[in-house]
Amino acid sequence: MDDIKKLPTLISERIILRPINIIDCADMYDYAKRENVGPMAGWEPHQSIEETKNIIKTMQDEMLTETNIGVFSIVYKKSMKMIGTVGLHRLNKQRKTAELGYILNPDYWGKGLMVEAVTKIIPWFFDELGLYRLECGHFDINQQSKRVIEKCGFTLEGTFRKKIVLKDESRCDLHHYSILKEEYENNQLPWQKR
Ligand SMILES: CC(C)(COP(=O)(O)OP(=O)(O)OC[C@H]1O[C@@H](n2cnc3c(N)ncnc32)[C@H](O)[C@@H]1OP(=O)(O)O)[C@@H](O)C(=O)NCCC(=O)NCCS
Repeated sequence: MDDIKKLPTLISERIILRPINIIDCADMYDYAKRENVGPMAGWEPHQSIEETKNIIKTMQDEMLTETNIGVFSIVYKKSMKMIGTVGLHRLNKQRKTAELGYILNPDYWGKGLMVEAVTKIIPWFFDELGLYRLECGHFDINQQSKRVIEKCGFTLEGTFRKKIVLKDESRCDLHHYSILKEEYENNQLPWQKR
């Protein structure tokens, strides 16, 4: 983990994953401004492209720090448009754990692209970074994210009851999952069995 100076570029069938860059700001703003995107992951829609630019700068500053791995942009090969992000956060080097988060432009939902992205990151996480436990969570109202988590092979560990306060002041449960290194190494994840 300490040897890594920069996030790599990872390539799969339909997408390229590479470190987020300021050149992504227009493509990111295109989806980050929409009402049905950020609030499902716990953040407010972006109000301006300047805000998006500042958020990307912060993501770059927080790349490969003591407590953070960083954010990959998802680039759709066909158009070379940046269509979302996959991030690895809350790194704990001593416990060898980190948390996964992801966002996709709604114009690209329903094509299995996030499962493609996450299943490209998982081998890098265990094999190259040598980490032990990948964590992930979703709001109870976010059934799309639940499906991504299930298809990637995460195991439900528990539910934080009514932990999340939504914009309309209502509360919802937060479900928490993980994948362990041995599950990946023993090919126990659904996408490894194909
Ligand atoms: C969660 C998210 C990344 C899913 O990505 P995706 O690549 O579209 O995922 P999939 O194509 O595997 O689809 C997931 C499920 O959503 C359903 N779905 C697809 N498009 C949909 C749409 N427009 N509306 C509602 N459901 C939809 C699919 O039927 C699929 O379920 P299935 O596998 O049982 O058929 C995407 O919806 C997103 O970015 N949401 C906003 C941000 C967010 O929620 N981030 C995660 C926070 S935990």
